[in-house]
Amino acid sequence: ACTSDGTVTATPTPTAHGWQPPADPMQFPAGFVWGAATSAFQVEGSTTADGRGPSIWDTFAATPGRIHDGSTGDPAADHYRLWESDLDLIADLGLAAYRFSVAWPRIQPTGSGDVNQAGVDFYRRLVDGLLARGIHPAITLYHWDLPQPLQDAGGWAVRETADRFGEYAAIMFEALRDVDATWLTINEPKTTAYVGYRWGAHAPGISDVDQAAAAIHHQLLGHGRAVEAFRASGAAGEIGIALNLLPVYPTSREADPAAVHTDAVENRMFLDPVLLGRYPSDAIGSEPGQLPADADAFQELVLDGDLEVISAPLDVLAVQYYGVTGVDELGNQVEVYPTSTAVWQQVHPEGLYDLLMDLLIDYPGAPPLVITENGIPDPTSEGTTDDPERLEFLRAHLQQAARAIDDGVRLVGYYAWSLLDNFEWAEGMSQRWGLVHVDFETQERTPKASAEWYSSVVRANAVTR
Ligand code: NOJ
Repeated sequence: ACTSDGTVTATPTPTAHGWQPPADPMQFPAGFVWGAATSAFQVEGSTTADGRGPSIWDTFAATPGRIHDGSTGDPAADHYRLWESDLDLIADLGLAAYRFSVAWPRIQPTGSGDVNQAGVDFYRRLVDGLLARGIHPAITLYHWDLPQPLQDAGGWAVRETADRFGEYAAIMFEALRDVDATWLTINEPKTTAYVGYRWGAHAPGISDVDQAAAAIHHQLLGHGRAVEAFRASGAAGEIGIALNLLPVYPTSREADPAAVHTDAVENRMFLDPVLLGRYPSDAIGSEPGQLPADADAFQELVLDGDLEVISAPLDVLAVQYYGVTGVDELGNQVEVYPTSTAVWQQVHPEGLYDLLMDLLIDYPGAPPLVITENGIPDPTSEGTTDDPERLEFLRAHLQQAARAIDDGVRLVGYYAWSLLDNFEWAEGMSQRWGLVHVDFETQERTPKASAEWYSSVVRANAVTR
């Protein structure tokens, strides 16, 4: 893996597994927070109910050819109507926490101005329902459903969107100021920038590398504005950002420089501004492996004071981990570990350990960490409640998390992705990521074998071999 000063700490031999889990169960610290996660657009449905405005994902999903199976966000898992029984389900599994997101277009249907009280009321009911069941709310403010009118005005490629996001965040802090919640500002700014603005495979479906670079800065600025609003509000709870990080392994000594560049683009471009108050100098530019955007144009977007806003101290850093990548000497991302059924995901549980240890070493000033996503889709699209592959995936990753804690990482919680089968973005309803199976005809929920197993882990606060 690469360190932030650009040195490469390990060149793995993909077949060698040095670490074996101990025979005894691996215990987690007292108070470790066990949860599962969803996001609004992926589970809620009811996309026109109670004054909700359109989001970029409504628009994208309605565009022929954009979603693999032609599905839309309605009804998804119908959670907007079934929320109460879903909360019972979370309680039955014994989870201590639930991560969900607020749909901005329910709160401000056009992305700015007046508050739609019916939208706020929905999340108030949800939060009160969680608290009544003794479940901790982890609330993501932006999980990709930008109000469409803000996209029409330029989306994250323009600076004003960061200001609008700060205003929306302030509305939510005020509405839930009494709640001891974990707030997460932006979910995976990398995915929005690269998949949404660079490759065009997610909403808003733009393929423009300079807009992608601008979308990074403006999302991070929006994050900073939200943190400012949070501190000013005096709301209870804690705040952080959710970053998807990708350990990068060079395939040979010759590949080391290319791996350093890939690490800059995938990881340091997000970690450095948030934790160190600066962008890495080697992420943007024309060299192989860099994000080939105009470096001067990018610098012009970064106004005086922006990096102070972006790097305001956080209470928690949320890490989302799905796998690793290899990089060859030409800078191509190549397979060094077997991919799972999700083609982009090279499964390597030790990569989670490497990532957590790298964060400990490279960012000693970082706040405590929480894993807010980790998981795999079912091996078939049919949907099954017998999911040994997911169970083994979770077990192996939790063992690596426990190992990192033993080695000094301050990891305070773990949320599996996802609680429910749901709308998996461009894959539509064809990829099932849930611990709980959803029959999309009847909306019936059935916990999968992995859910039963995860529940036993949660109750024991330990992962068994
Ligand atoms: C990351 C995203 O935050 C989530 O919405 C998505 O479903 C999972 N990864 C799986 O792809």
